[in-house]
Amino acid sequence: MKRFEKADTIRQYLHTFRTESTIGFVPTMGALHEGHLALIETARRENDVVVSSIFVNPVQFNNPDDLARYPRTLEEDCQKLEAAGCDVVFAPSVDEMYPTPPTLHLNFGSLETVMEGAFRPGHFNGVGIVVAKLFNIVQPDRAYFGQKDLQQVGVIRQLIRDLSFPVELIRCPIIRETDGLAMSSRNRNLTAAEREQAPALFQALTLAHDCLLDEQSVTQTKAVVTDFFNEKPEFRLEYIDIVNANTLQPTDYVLAPGQTAICLAAHLGKVRLIDNLVF
Ligand code: PAF
Repeated sequence: MKRFEKADTIRQYLHTFRTESTIGFVPTMGALHEGHLALIETARRENDVVVSSIFVNPVQFNNPDDLARYPRTLEEDCQKLEAAGCDVVFAPSVDEMYPTPPTLHLNFGSLETVMEGAFRPGHFNGVGIVVAKLFNIVQPDRAYFGQKDLQQVGVIRQLIRDLSFPVELIRCPIIRETDGLAMSSRNRNLTAAEREQAPALFQALTLAHDCLLDEQSVTQTKAVVTDFFNEKPEFRLEYIDIVNANTLQPTDYVLAPGQTAICLAAHLGKVRLIDNLVF
C-alpha cells in the first residue's frame, strides 16, 4: 500500500491511473473499525484502485473537547487498510490541508437546520469543505460513505450536485456489533459500563420502528422514545426525529419502503452517539 502525506504527490501518483482505471475513495478520520473496512471492501469489489484518506478534520468539530478526544491511531489504521485491500492512503497534516484557515462558507439550506446541523453548528460546512478538497485531490470515480451518518450522506449528495463533482456517491449499510450498537470510532471512548448501556440507542430505534409499524403517530412514537430514555438517567437524549431518508426533513407519515428514517442522537457520559434506521 502506498502512503502519501502531500496533496501534490498523491494527485500526481493517481494521475497515471485515471484514464484506464476506476478509482474508489473512502474518506475517513481514522480510528478505523469494521464499518470502515466494509466500505473499503465494497470499494475494492467495484473499482480498480482503492484510495482512503485519514484526516481528523478540525474544521468540522464544533466542540474543541470532542476534537481533542477524537482517537488517533494512524499506524494501526494503515495496517487495517492494507489488510482490507486498500491500495493508497492519504494522511495529510492539518497544515497540508489548511495552509491558511478556510474562509469559504458552504450553506446546505434545509439540510443544515435539522438534527446534526441544528445541534452541531458549522459541522456540515467543515465536512463539505474537507470532502470537496479531498475530491479535488483524489478525483475519484466513486466515493463510499456509511449510512450511520445519514445526514452527512445527504450533504455530500448536495455537494456533488451543486458543485458538479463527477463522483458517484455510494451509501453503504450500517455495520453493528452483535448487541446492536452501531460501529463508530467514538465507541472507543466509552467506559466499560457505558459500553454495556450503549445498545439502548438501537433498542430505542427498534422500539420507534415497532410503534410506527403499529400505526402510532410520529408524535406518539417520539414520546415513547423520550420516555424510554427518561428511564435511563445515564443518557441525555438530544433528538429523536422521523424524517425523509433523502431530504432529511421531518415527516408526519411513514413514506414508501426505504424512504423513512428514524434518527437519534444521545449523550452517554462524555460521548455523543448517533444512530438511525431506514425502512
Ligand atoms: O465521516 C467521516 O469520517 C468524516 O466526516 C469525513 C467524511 C471523513 C470528513 O472528514
